[in-house]
Amino acid sequence: MEATPWKFESSSGHQCCSKTVLCMTRVLNKKLKKSSKKWMQRQVNDPYVEQAKQEGYRSRAAYKLLEMQRKFKLANKDSVVLDLGAAPGGWSQVMSEIARDVIAIDLLDMAQLPNVEFIKGDFTDNNVIRELNQLLQNQKVDVILSDMAPNICGIKQVDHLRIIELVEMAYDFCHVALKPGGNFVAKVFQGGTCSELLDKIKKHFVSVKHFKPLASRKESSEIYLVAIGYRL
Ligand SMILES: C[S@@+](CC[C@H](N)C(=O)[O-])C[C@H]1O[C@@H](n2cnc3c(N)ncnc32)[C@H](O)[C@@H]1O
Repeated sequence: MEATPWKFESSSGHQCCSKTVLCMTRVLNKKLKKSSKKWMQRQVNDPYVEQAKQEGYRSRAAYKLLEMQRKFKLANKDSVVLDLGAAPGGWSQVMSEIARDVIAIDLLDMAQLPNVEFIKGDFTDNNVIRELNQLLQNQKVDVILSDMAPNICGIKQVDHLRIIELVEMAYDFCHVALKPGGNFVAKVFQGGTCSELLDKIKKHFVSVKHFKPLASRKESSEIYLVAIGYRL
């Protein structure tokens, strides 16, 4: 007698047999292997990955911030910096070498760094904001950085909306915690920031620009919004 194939029930109540699951896994693995291979190739051929390894930075992203710091003088030795979407910690490392204090937040864990206070959690979660406010004790910061990126689903409009939502939340937090004269940097995707949000940001900063650092991969649609000189 033929053995009954193993079955499981999905959350939607549909039953799949083991053959279907096996087949789905193979297709998924094939796709993953292809994208992982691409990622590996990019990493091996990337001069910034090598430079980060040699200079002890946790990520190649550090060079994006170093370039923006050189160009826009975002922080100085007295600055307090809020780093949103900080893991694995390249930007926090750069800022901990320049600024007085850094507060870093990420969904993922991040190994400790000198002068960096880390909160693990979702910046869009009220409990995390509460923890952040407790840490700040009503003190304002000089720089707010957001390199937060949502999980990319591949549908352009959806990805765009998700990142805009994060930028909007980071920008709203400027009104809570950024000192007058402070600076704000946020990752957006090409096509820039949506015009409504851009208009709001322009009203509250002396200068607002989009900037693509050299270390940002050409094929990546990421670009940074750099807003200098917060005003009420
Ligand atoms: C491109 S990485 C940041 C790299 C980092 N700037 C560096 O230099 O190493 C983006 C990070 O944003 C984080 N992130 C995405 N959405 C977030 C959210 N809602 N709250 C906190 N972190 C978030 C991700 O977990 C991820 O670690």
